[in-house]
Amino acid sequence: MESAGDLTTTRAPFIENARADGELYIEQPYELYSAQNHEAWRTLYSRMVPRWERYAHPKFLEGVNNVALDPDRVPRLSDINKFLSPLSGFSAKAVSGYVPAYLFFDCLRGRAFPTTITIRDLSKLDYLPEPDIFHDAAGHVPMHTDKVFADTLVKFGEVARSAARYAQSINDKEQAYRTIESIIKGMARFFWFTIEFGLMRSNGELKVYGSGILSSYGEIEYAIESPEPQRYPFQLEWVINQYFEIDHYQPLYFVIESFDELFAAVEQLEDWIEAGKLDCLSPGEPNVNEEDLKSFLEASV
Ligand SMILES: [Fe+2]
Repeated sequence: MESAGDLTTTRAPFIENARADGELYIEQPYELYSAQNHEAWRTLYSRMVPRWERYAHPKFLEGVNNVALDPDRVPRLSDINKFLSPLSGFSAKAVSGYVPAYLFFDCLRGRAFPTTITIRDLSKLDYLPEPDIFHDAAGHVPMHTDKVFADTLVKFGEVARSAARYAQSINDKEQAYRTIESIIKGMARFFWFTIEFGLMRSNGELKVYGSGILSSYGEIEYAIESPEPQRYPFQLEWVINQYFEIDHYQPLYFVIESFDELFAAVEQLEDWIEAGKLDCLSPGEPNVNEEDLKSFLEASV
């Protein structure tokens, strides 16, 4: 059994207390990780490495090398940042849980990535609906060492600010709500099908750069090898109108040709938002909550 004070996902008193006190950005209380927490990291990491070598995009493998993650212990974010910040200006910033949409994107604009510090239960390594430090630090952070990728995340933050300005300029309050709900949906779908579940062609081979896949032992093989999912070239108008579900392997992936193409697509997203093209996207997942809406409509932009 874990000690009462460890940092297991959904069962960490430290996190519950921080949330109860309204603290979103926190310190990583490293001494609270239990032996089982470290064992969960070690197990996740060691079984993932051969799959990364086989299926991950070369930029991700370079990143894993560059941030020097410890295979045996949950990483200290301060150690990661020592390697990461000189490369792209990015840092991993500890959070106590869910970050409302605008704050999330705005954090990216400031070159910081909101990073979960809890780790999944040793007995549930395969499926976890919530992000944990393995997903965030091993799945996301290595990509942040790449300059173009890091700039793409910053651009996402700028797009969010443009979207907030655009929605705040709408006088009719109800219309402003409807519009920003649709835009947040579009941005979340774009983020999902690229940063979280994106595939990319590299030297003629299909590779994974999306963090949701890179942190999943089962899905990384499925995404590349299985005949089941559909794989289509990235198309902005499709992606922003495509609903997604989070509780099973993805039935649909979008393949992009390069990180430059990805950056250009985020720029195009901003143009489309300002041209009103995201005002009325198709309904369906993801659900946008009240906190997300308010975070955009009340942001100082
Ligand atoms: Fe993620």
